Amino acid sequence: MGSLLIRGGRPLHGRLKVSGAKNAALPILAGTLLTQEVTRIHNLPHLHDITTMMELLGCLGVGLTVDERLGIEVDGSSVNNVRAPYELVKTMRASILVLGPLLARFGEAEVSFPGGCAIGSRPVDLHLKGLEAMGADITVEDGYIKAKAPGGLRGADITLETVTVGGTENLLMAATLAHGKTVLRNAAREPEVVDLAQFLIAMGAKIAGAGSSTIEIEGVSALHGCDYTVMPDRIEAGTYLVAVAATGGKVRLEGVIPSHVAIVLDKLREAGADISVESDAIELDMAGRRPSAVAVTTAPYPGFPTDMQAQFTALNTIAEGVGRVTETVFENRLIQTHEMNRMGADIQIEGNTAIVTGRPTLRGAPVMASDLRASASLVIAGLVASGETVVDRIYHIDRGYECIEEKLQSLGADIRRQTH
Ligand code: UD1
Repeated sequence: MGSLLIRGGRPLHGRLKVSGAKNAALPILAGTLLTQEVTRIHNLPHLHDITTMMELLGCLGVGLTVDERLGIEVDGSSVNNVRAPYELVKTMRASILVLGPLLARFGEAEVSFPGGCAIGSRPVDLHLKGLEAMGADITVEDGYIKAKAPGGLRGADITLETVTVGGTENLLMAATLAHGKTVLRNAAREPEVVDLAQFLIAMGAKIAGAGSSTIEIEGVSALHGCDYTVMPDRIEAGTYLVAVAATGGKVRLEGVIPSHVAIVLDKLREAGADISVESDAIELDMAGRRPSAVAVTTAPYPGFPTDMQAQFTALNTIAEGVGRVTETVFENRLIQTHEMNRMGADIQIEGNTAIVTGRPTLRGAPVMASDLRASASLVIAGLVASGETVVDRIYHIDRGYECIEEKLQSLGADIRRQTH
Protein backbone atom coordinates (compact mmCIF):
# COMPACT_ATOMS: atom_id res chain seq x y z
CA MET A 1 0.00 0.00 0.00
CA GLY A 2 1.41 3.43 -0.90
CA SER A 3 1.95 6.53 1.17
CA LEU A 4 3.04 10.12 0.61
CA LEU A 5 6.09 11.47 2.42
CA ILE A 6 5.90 15.23 2.86
CA ARG A 7 8.51 17.58 4.31
CA GLY A 8 6.42 20.63 5.06
CA GLY A 9 6.99 24.31 5.68
CA ARG A 10 7.60 25.52 2.11
CA PRO A 11 5.31 28.11 0.52
CA LEU A 12 3.95 26.79 -2.79
CA HIS A 13 4.49 28.89 -5.92
CA GLY A 14 3.79 28.39 -9.59
CA ARG A 15 1.10 27.57 -12.12
CA LEU A 16 -1.13 24.54 -12.56
CA LYS A 17 -3.56 23.21 -15.11
CA VAL A 18 -6.77 21.83 -13.63
CA SER A 19 -7.82 18.32 -14.74
CA GLY A 20 -11.22 17.15 -15.99
CA ALA A 21 -13.86 16.72 -13.28
CA LYS A 22 -14.17 13.23 -11.82
CA ASN A 23 -17.72 13.83 -10.64
CA ALA A 24 -18.82 14.96 -14.10
CA ALA A 25 -16.87 12.26 -15.96
CA LEU A 26 -18.42 9.40 -13.97
CA PRO A 27 -22.09 10.13 -14.80
CA ILE A 28 -21.15 11.05 -18.38
CA LEU A 29 -19.42 7.68 -18.86
CA ALA A 30 -22.52 5.97 -17.38
CA GLY A 31 -24.65 8.06 -19.75
CA THR A 32 -22.87 6.62 -22.79
CA LEU A 33 -24.91 3.45 -22.11
CA LEU A 34 -28.00 5.31 -23.35
CA THR A 35 -27.03 4.98 -27.01
CA GLN A 36 -26.00 2.19 -29.32
CA GLU A 37 -23.94 4.68 -31.32
CA VAL A 38 -20.34 5.76 -30.66
CA THR A 39 -19.63 8.59 -28.19
CA ARG A 40 -16.23 10.25 -27.76
CA ILE A 41 -15.44 11.72 -24.35
CA HIS A 42 -12.49 14.10 -23.93
CA ASN A 43 -10.62 15.58 -20.94
CA LEU A 44 -11.12 12.56 -18.71
CA PRO A 45 -8.97 12.72 -15.60
CA HIS A 46 -6.47 9.91 -15.10
CA LEU A 47 -7.93 8.43 -11.90
CA HIS A 48 -8.76 5.09 -10.33
CA ASP A 49 -12.50 5.85 -10.23
CA ILE A 50 -12.49 6.52 -13.97
CA THR A 51 -10.69 3.23 -14.60
CA THR A 52 -13.26 1.46 -12.41
CA MET A 53 -16.13 2.98 -14.41
CA MET A 54 -14.42 1.92 -17.66
CA GLU A 55 -14.02 -1.58 -16.25
CA LEU A 56 -17.71 -1.61 -15.39
CA LEU A 57 -18.68 -0.49 -18.91
CA GLY A 58 -16.37 -3.18 -20.30
CA CYS A 59 -18.03 -5.85 -18.20
CA LEU A 60 -21.44 -4.77 -19.56
CA GLY A 61 -20.08 -5.46 -23.07
CA VAL A 62 -19.31 -1.88 -24.14
CA GLY A 63 -16.42 -1.47 -26.62
CA LEU A 64 -13.82 1.03 -25.37
CA THR A 65 -10.88 2.59 -27.20
CA VAL A 66 -8.63 4.89 -25.19
CA ASP A 67 -6.44 7.46 -26.96
CA GLU A 68 -3.19 8.89 -25.64
CA ARG A 69 -4.74 12.31 -24.94
CA LEU A 70 -7.15 11.31 -22.15
CA GLY A 71 -9.96 10.69 -24.59
CA ILE A 72 -12.10 7.60 -24.94
CA GLU A 73 -14.31 6.20 -27.66
CA VAL A 74 -17.30 4.29 -26.32
CA ASP A 75 -19.23 1.89 -28.54
CA GLY A 76 -22.55 1.01 -26.90
CA SER A 77 -23.76 -1.31 -29.69
CA SER A 78 -22.24 -4.40 -28.09
CA VAL A 79 -23.83 -4.27 -24.60
CA ASN A 80 -24.73 -7.87 -23.73
CA ASN A 81 -25.14 -7.78 -19.96
CA VAL A 82 -27.13 -5.52 -17.61
CA ARG A 83 -25.60 -6.59 -14.28
CA ALA A 84 -23.13 -4.40 -12.34
CA PRO A 85 -21.32 -6.84 -10.07
CA TYR A 86 -20.53 -6.47 -6.37
CA GLU A 87 -16.75 -6.61 -7.01
CA LEU A 88 -16.87 -3.29 -8.89
CA VAL A 89 -19.67 -1.53 -7.00
CA LYS A 90 -17.94 -2.13 -3.66
CA THR A 91 -14.86 -0.25 -4.87
CA MET A 92 -16.90 2.68 -6.21
CA ARG A 93 -20.38 3.69 -5.07
CA ALA A 94 -20.86 5.84 -8.19
CA SER A 95 -21.38 2.55 -10.07
CA ILE A 96 -25.06 3.03 -9.10
CA LEU A 97 -25.14 5.62 -11.93
CA VAL A 98 -25.46 2.82 -14.54
CA LEU A 99 -28.85 1.83 -13.09
CA GLY A 100 -30.93 4.59 -14.75
CA PRO A 101 -29.31 4.34 -18.21
CA LEU A 102 -29.43 0.51 -18.36
CA LEU A 103 -33.05 0.40 -17.25
CA ALA A 104 -34.07 3.14 -19.69
CA ARG A 105 -32.42 1.53 -22.72
CA PHE A 106 -32.85 -2.20 -22.03
CA GLY A 107 -35.91 -2.32 -19.74
CA GLU A 108 -33.92 -4.12 -17.05
CA ALA A 109 -30.84 -3.71 -14.85
CA GLU A 110 -29.20 -5.33 -11.86
CA VAL A 111 -26.80 -3.36 -9.72
CA SER A 112 -25.18 -4.57 -6.54
CA PHE A 113 -26.53 -2.55 -3.59
CA PRO A 114 -23.83 0.00 -2.66
CA GLY A 115 -22.98 -0.13 1.04
CA GLY A 116 -22.25 2.81 3.32
CA CYS A 117 -18.77 4.29 3.42
CA ALA A 118 -16.49 6.13 5.82
CA ILE A 119 -18.41 9.41 5.58
CA GLY A 120 -21.92 8.07 6.19
CA SER A 121 -24.62 5.52 5.42
CA ARG A 122 -25.30 7.02 1.96
CA PRO A 123 -28.61 5.40 1.01
CA VAL A 124 -29.89 5.25 -2.60
CA ASP A 125 -33.59 5.18 -1.68
CA LEU A 126 -34.35 8.35 -3.65
CA HIS A 127 -32.82 6.90 -6.84
CA LEU A 128 -35.09 3.85 -6.45
CA LYS A 129 -38.25 5.78 -5.49
CA GLY A 130 -37.82 8.02 -8.51
CA LEU A 131 -37.41 5.06 -10.88
CA GLU A 132 -40.48 3.41 -9.32
CA ALA A 133 -42.45 6.60 -9.94
CA MET A 134 -41.40 6.17 -13.59
CA GLY A 135 -42.99 2.71 -13.65
CA ALA A 136 -40.01 0.50 -12.75
CA ASP A 137 -40.58 -2.64 -10.72
CA ILE A 138 -37.72 -2.80 -8.19
CA THR A 139 -36.79 -5.57 -5.78
CA VAL A 140 -33.70 -6.16 -3.70
CA GLU A 141 -32.49 -9.77 -3.77
CA ASP A 142 -29.17 -11.30 -2.72
CA GLY A 143 -27.64 -7.87 -2.25
CA TYR A 144 -28.64 -6.75 -5.77
CA ILE A 145 -31.08 -4.06 -6.87
CA LYS A 146 -33.15 -5.72 -9.61
CA ALA A 147 -35.11 -3.27 -11.73
CA LYS A 148 -37.51 -4.04 -14.59
CA ALA A 149 -39.58 -1.89 -16.92
CA PRO A 150 -40.38 -4.21 -19.86
CA GLY A 151 -42.57 -1.71 -21.70
CA GLY A 152 -40.11 1.14 -21.03
CA LEU A 153 -40.15 3.86 -18.38
CA ARG A 154 -42.91 6.51 -18.23
CA GLY A 155 -42.37 10.20 -17.56
CA ALA A 156 -43.37 11.28 -14.04
CA ASP A 157 -43.52 14.34 -11.79
CA ILE A 158 -40.94 13.61 -9.06
CA THR A 159 -40.08 15.70 -6.00
CA LEU A 160 -36.80 14.60 -4.41
CA GLU A 161 -37.09 14.76 -0.61
CA THR A 162 -33.39 15.61 -0.19
CA VAL A 163 -31.12 17.31 -2.69
CA THR A 164 -29.14 14.42 -4.16
CA VAL A 165 -26.53 14.79 -6.88
CA GLY A 166 -26.38 11.10 -7.86
CA GLY A 167 -30.15 10.69 -7.55
CA THR A 168 -30.76 13.67 -9.84
CA GLU A 169 -28.24 12.30 -12.35
CA ASN A 170 -29.67 8.77 -12.39
CA LEU A 171 -33.24 10.02 -12.88
CA LEU A 172 -32.19 12.61 -15.46
CA MET A 173 -30.52 9.88 -17.54
CA ALA A 174 -33.45 7.49 -17.13
CA ALA A 175 -35.96 10.18 -18.17
CA THR A 176 -34.23 10.92 -21.49
CA LEU A 177 -35.62 7.67 -22.98
CA ALA A 178 -38.92 7.49 -21.02
CA HIS A 179 -42.33 7.81 -22.70
CA GLY A 180 -43.54 11.37 -22.12
CA LYS A 181 -42.42 14.18 -19.87
CA THR A 182 -40.55 13.97 -16.53
CA VAL A 183 -40.26 16.85 -14.09
CA LEU A 184 -37.56 16.58 -11.39
CA ARG A 185 -38.24 18.97 -8.50
CA ASN A 186 -35.76 19.88 -5.74
CA ALA A 187 -33.12 18.68 -8.20
CA ALA A 188 -29.41 19.13 -7.46
CA ARG A 189 -27.98 22.29 -9.09
CA GLU A 190 -24.31 21.21 -9.08
CA PRO A 191 -22.26 22.14 -12.19
CA GLU A 192 -21.65 18.40 -12.71
CA VAL A 193 -25.42 17.90 -13.19
CA VAL A 194 -25.36 20.67 -15.79
CA ASP A 195 -22.36 19.07 -17.55
CA LEU A 196 -24.19 15.74 -17.69
CA ALA A 197 -27.33 17.47 -19.04
CA GLN A 198 -25.25 19.19 -21.75
CA PHE A 199 -23.74 15.85 -22.73
CA LEU A 200 -27.21 14.28 -22.93
CA ILE A 201 -28.47 17.24 -25.00
CA ALA A 202 -25.50 16.70 -27.36
CA MET A 203 -26.82 13.10 -27.71
CA GLY A 204 -30.25 14.41 -28.71
CA ALA A 205 -32.00 14.52 -25.31
CA LYS A 206 -34.64 17.18 -24.65
CA ILE A 207 -33.80 18.75 -21.31
CA ALA A 208 -34.63 22.19 -19.89
CA GLY A 209 -33.75 23.75 -16.54
CA ALA A 210 -30.55 21.88 -15.57
CA GLY A 211 -28.73 24.07 -13.05
CA SER A 212 -32.04 25.14 -11.49
CA SER A 213 -34.01 23.11 -8.96
CA THR A 214 -36.64 22.07 -11.53
CA ILE A 215 -35.49 20.04 -14.53
CA GLU A 216 -37.90 19.08 -17.32
CA ILE A 217 -37.14 16.20 -19.63
CA GLU A 218 -39.18 15.24 -22.69
CA GLY A 219 -38.41 11.59 -23.45
CA VAL A 220 -37.19 10.66 -26.95
CA SER A 221 -37.16 7.23 -28.59
CA ALA A 222 -33.37 7.01 -29.07
CA LEU A 223 -30.20 9.01 -28.43
CA HIS A 224 -27.28 9.30 -30.84
CA GLY A 225 -23.49 9.45 -30.56
CA CYS A 226 -21.58 12.69 -29.93
CA ASP A 227 -18.22 14.23 -29.00
CA TYR A 228 -18.07 15.78 -25.53
CA THR A 229 -15.40 17.46 -23.40
CA VAL A 230 -15.73 17.05 -19.62
CA MET A 231 -15.74 20.28 -17.51
CA PRO A 232 -12.77 21.19 -15.27
CA ASP A 233 -12.67 19.81 -11.72
CA ARG A 234 -13.82 22.53 -9.31
CA ILE A 235 -12.93 20.46 -6.25
CA GLU A 236 -9.40 19.78 -7.48
CA ALA A 237 -9.07 23.52 -8.22
CA GLY A 238 -10.35 24.46 -4.74
CA THR A 239 -8.02 21.94 -3.07
CA TYR A 240 -4.89 23.43 -4.71
CA LEU A 241 -6.03 26.98 -3.91
CA VAL A 242 -6.39 26.05 -0.23
CA ALA A 243 -3.02 24.24 -0.21
CA VAL A 244 -1.29 27.32 -1.62
CA ALA A 245 -3.13 29.68 0.75
CA ALA A 246 -2.27 27.54 3.79
CA THR A 247 1.43 27.65 2.92
CA GLY A 248 1.41 31.43 2.31
CA GLY A 249 2.25 31.00 -1.39
CA LYS A 250 1.09 32.17 -4.81
CA VAL A 251 -0.47 30.26 -7.71
CA ARG A 252 -2.04 30.68 -11.11
CA LEU A 253 -4.62 28.01 -11.88
CA GLU A 254 -5.47 27.54 -15.53
CA GLY A 255 -8.32 25.77 -17.30
CA VAL A 256 -10.80 26.46 -14.49
CA ILE A 257 -14.33 27.94 -14.47
CA PRO A 258 -14.15 30.62 -11.73
CA SER A 259 -17.94 30.85 -11.22
CA HIS A 260 -17.96 27.18 -10.12
CA VAL A 261 -15.72 28.02 -7.16
CA ALA A 262 -17.24 31.43 -6.29
CA ILE A 263 -18.02 30.56 -2.67
CA VAL A 264 -14.59 28.96 -2.16
CA LEU A 265 -12.94 32.14 -3.50
CA ASP A 266 -15.07 34.28 -1.13
CA LYS A 267 -13.88 32.19 1.83
CA LEU A 268 -10.25 32.38 0.70
CA ARG A 269 -10.51 36.18 0.39
CA GLU A 270 -11.95 36.24 3.91
CA ALA A 271 -8.91 34.19 5.00
CA GLY A 272 -6.69 36.96 3.63
CA ALA A 273 -5.82 35.86 0.08
CA ASP A 274 -5.54 38.34 -2.82
CA ILE A 275 -7.44 36.75 -5.68
CA SER A 276 -7.92 37.83 -9.27
CA VAL A 277 -10.04 36.06 -11.80
CA GLU A 278 -9.97 35.80 -15.60
CA SER A 279 -12.42 33.91 -17.80
CA ASP A 280 -10.63 30.58 -17.33
CA ALA A 281 -7.89 31.30 -14.78
CA ILE A 282 -7.55 32.23 -11.11
CA GLU A 283 -4.55 33.85 -9.43
CA LEU A 284 -4.20 33.59 -5.66
CA ASP A 285 -1.50 35.35 -3.64
CA MET A 286 -1.15 34.94 0.10
CA ALA A 287 2.15 36.90 0.17
CA GLY A 288 3.52 34.90 3.10
CA ARG A 289 0.66 35.91 5.40
CA ARG A 290 -0.85 33.60 8.00
CA PRO A 291 -4.50 32.97 7.09
CA SER A 292 -7.36 34.24 9.23
CA ALA A 293 -9.80 31.61 10.50
CA VAL A 294 -13.02 31.27 8.47
CA ALA A 295 -16.41 29.77 9.32
CA VAL A 296 -17.96 27.41 6.79
CA THR A 297 -21.22 25.45 6.69
CA THR A 298 -21.62 22.87 3.94
CA ALA A 299 -24.75 22.83 1.76
CA PRO A 300 -25.80 21.69 -1.71
CA TYR A 301 -24.62 23.93 -4.61
CA PRO A 302 -24.45 26.91 -4.78
CA GLY A 303 -23.67 26.55 -1.05
CA PHE A 304 -20.27 25.65 0.34
CA PRO A 305 -19.29 22.18 -1.01
CA THR A 306 -18.99 19.29 1.43
CA ASP A 307 -16.10 18.11 -0.77
CA MET A 308 -14.13 21.25 0.30
CA GLN A 309 -14.92 21.03 4.02
CA ALA A 310 -11.90 18.97 5.12
CA GLN A 311 -9.46 21.22 3.23
CA PHE A 312 -10.83 24.35 4.97
CA THR A 313 -10.59 22.55 8.31
CA ALA A 314 -6.89 22.04 7.54
CA LEU A 315 -6.51 25.75 6.66
CA ASN A 316 -8.14 26.75 9.96
CA THR A 317 -5.73 24.60 12.00
CA ILE A 318 -2.90 27.07 11.34
CA ALA A 319 -5.03 30.23 10.99
CA GLU A 320 -5.25 33.23 13.30
CA GLY A 321 -8.40 32.85 15.41
CA VAL A 322 -11.11 30.23 15.81
CA GLY A 323 -12.95 28.76 12.80
CA ARG A 324 -16.21 26.81 13.00
CA VAL A 325 -16.74 24.17 10.32
CA THR A 326 -20.24 22.70 10.17
CA GLU A 327 -21.04 19.64 8.03
CA THR A 328 -24.70 19.29 7.05
CA VAL A 329 -24.58 16.95 4.02
CA PHE A 330 -22.95 13.77 5.38
CA GLU A 331 -23.26 12.55 8.97
CA ASN A 332 -19.72 11.38 9.57
CA ARG A 333 -17.46 13.67 7.63
CA LEU A 334 -15.35 15.28 10.36
CA ILE A 335 -13.28 12.15 10.95
CA GLN A 336 -10.05 13.60 9.59
CA THR A 337 -9.98 16.00 12.55
CA HIS A 338 -8.65 13.28 14.89
CA GLU A 339 -5.65 12.75 12.62
CA MET A 340 -5.05 16.51 12.45
CA ASN A 341 -5.04 16.69 16.25
CA ARG A 342 -2.25 14.11 16.17
CA MET A 343 -0.27 16.72 14.21
CA GLY A 344 -0.77 19.30 16.95
CA ALA A 345 -4.03 20.85 15.74
CA ASP A 346 -6.64 21.97 18.26
CA ILE A 347 -10.00 20.75 17.00
CA GLN A 348 -13.01 20.04 19.21
CA ILE A 349 -16.10 18.35 17.84
CA GLU A 350 -19.55 19.52 18.94
CA GLY A 351 -22.26 17.59 17.12
CA ASN A 352 -21.71 18.23 13.40
CA THR A 353 -19.39 21.19 14.00
CA ALA A 354 -15.61 21.24 14.29
CA ILE A 355 -14.34 24.14 16.39
CA VAL A 356 -10.83 24.78 15.15
CA THR A 357 -8.51 26.96 17.23
CA GLY A 358 -5.64 28.01 14.99
CA ARG A 359 -2.07 27.25 16.03
CA PRO A 360 1.05 28.97 14.63
CA THR A 361 2.21 25.65 13.17
CA LEU A 362 1.59 21.88 13.04
CA ARG A 363 4.12 19.10 13.63
CA GLY A 364 4.64 16.36 11.05
CA ALA A 365 3.37 12.89 12.02
CA PRO A 366 2.35 9.60 10.43
CA VAL A 367 -1.37 9.90 9.60
CA MET A 368 -3.94 7.75 7.89
CA ALA A 369 -6.70 8.81 5.56
CA SER A 370 -10.22 7.42 5.63
CA ASP A 371 -11.76 8.99 2.52
CA LEU A 372 -10.81 10.95 -0.55
CA ARG A 373 -11.19 14.57 0.62
CA ALA A 374 -9.95 13.75 4.13
CA SER A 375 -6.72 12.48 2.51
CA ALA A 376 -6.34 15.75 0.62
CA SER A 377 -6.75 17.70 3.85
CA LEU A 378 -4.03 15.63 5.52
CA VAL A 379 -1.71 16.40 2.60
CA ILE A 380 -2.44 20.11 3.13
CA ALA A 381 -1.72 19.73 6.85
CA GLY A 382 1.54 17.96 5.96
CA LEU A 383 2.54 20.78 3.59
CA VAL A 384 2.27 23.37 6.38
CA ALA A 385 3.64 21.22 9.22
CA SER A 386 7.24 21.34 10.34
CA GLY A 387 9.14 18.08 9.88
CA GLU A 388 7.98 14.93 8.11
CA THR A 389 4.43 13.75 7.57
CA VAL A 390 3.58 10.38 6.07
CA VAL A 391 0.02 10.13 4.74
CA ASP A 392 -0.90 6.47 4.55
CA ARG A 393 -3.64 4.74 2.52
CA ILE A 394 -3.27 7.09 -0.42
CA TYR A 395 -5.37 4.86 -2.64
CA HIS A 396 -8.14 7.21 -1.50
CA ILE A 397 -6.25 10.16 -3.03
CA ASP A 398 -5.63 8.32 -6.29
CA ARG A 399 -9.40 7.92 -6.66
CA GLY A 400 -9.80 11.67 -7.03
CA TYR A 401 -6.55 13.61 -7.58
CA GLU A 402 -4.60 13.16 -10.80
CA CYS A 403 -0.82 13.01 -10.24
CA ILE A 404 -1.09 14.89 -6.93
CA GLU A 405 2.58 14.56 -6.04
CA GLU A 406 3.77 15.73 -9.48
CA LYS A 407 1.41 18.70 -9.37
CA LEU A 408 2.54 19.69 -5.86
CA GLN A 409 6.21 19.14 -6.74
CA SER A 410 5.76 21.53 -9.68
CA LEU A 411 4.70 24.15 -7.10
CA GLY A 412 7.87 23.51 -5.06
CA ALA A 413 6.53 21.06 -2.47
CA ASP A 414 8.84 18.43 -1.01
CA ILE A 415 6.57 15.42 -1.46
CA ARG A 416 7.14 11.94 -2.76
CA ARG A 417 5.31 8.67 -3.08
CA GLN A 418 6.55 5.64 -1.18
CA THR A 419 5.45 2.11 -1.98
CA HIS A 420 5.70 -0.27 0.91
C1 UD1 B 1 -21.93 13.29 -4.91
C2 UD1 B 1 -20.45 13.39 -5.13
C3 UD1 B 1 -19.71 13.56 -3.81
C4 UD1 B 1 -20.28 14.75 -3.03
C5 UD1 B 1 -21.80 14.63 -2.90
C6 UD1 B 1 -22.44 15.86 -2.29
C7 UD1 B 1 -20.14 12.06 -7.14
C8 UD1 B 1 -19.60 10.83 -7.76
N1 UD1 B 1 -20.00 12.19 -5.82
O1 UD1 B 1 -22.16 12.11 -4.13
O2 UD1 B 1 -18.32 13.79 -4.10
O3 UD1 B 1 -19.71 14.78 -1.74
O4 UD1 B 1 -22.40 14.46 -4.21
O5 UD1 B 1 -22.08 17.00 -2.98
O6 UD1 B 1 -20.64 12.94 -7.82
N2 UD1 B 1 -29.21 10.73 0.08
C9 UD1 B 1 -30.32 10.04 0.54
N3 UD1 B 1 -30.95 9.18 -0.34
C10 UD1 B 1 -30.53 8.99 -1.62
C11 UD1 B 1 -29.40 9.70 -2.07
C12 UD1 B 1 -28.76 10.57 -1.20
O7 UD1 B 1 -30.74 10.19 1.69
O8 UD1 B 1 -31.14 8.19 -2.34
C13 UD1 B 1 -28.50 11.65 1.01
C14 UD1 B 1 -27.04 11.22 1.26
O9 UD1 B 1 -26.95 10.24 2.29
C15 UD1 B 1 -26.40 12.54 1.65
C16 UD1 B 1 -27.17 13.56 0.77
O10 UD1 B 1 -28.37 12.90 0.37
O11 UD1 B 1 -26.64 12.82 3.01
C17 UD1 B 1 -26.41 14.03 -0.45
O12 UD1 B 1 -25.93 12.89 -1.15
P1 UD1 B 1 -25.75 12.90 -2.74
O13 UD1 B 1 -25.88 14.30 -3.25
O14 UD1 B 1 -26.65 11.87 -3.33
O15 UD1 B 1 -24.25 12.43 -2.88
P2 UD1 B 1 -23.63 11.50 -4.02
O16 UD1 B 1 -24.33 11.72 -5.31
O17 UD1 B 1 -23.50 10.12 -3.50
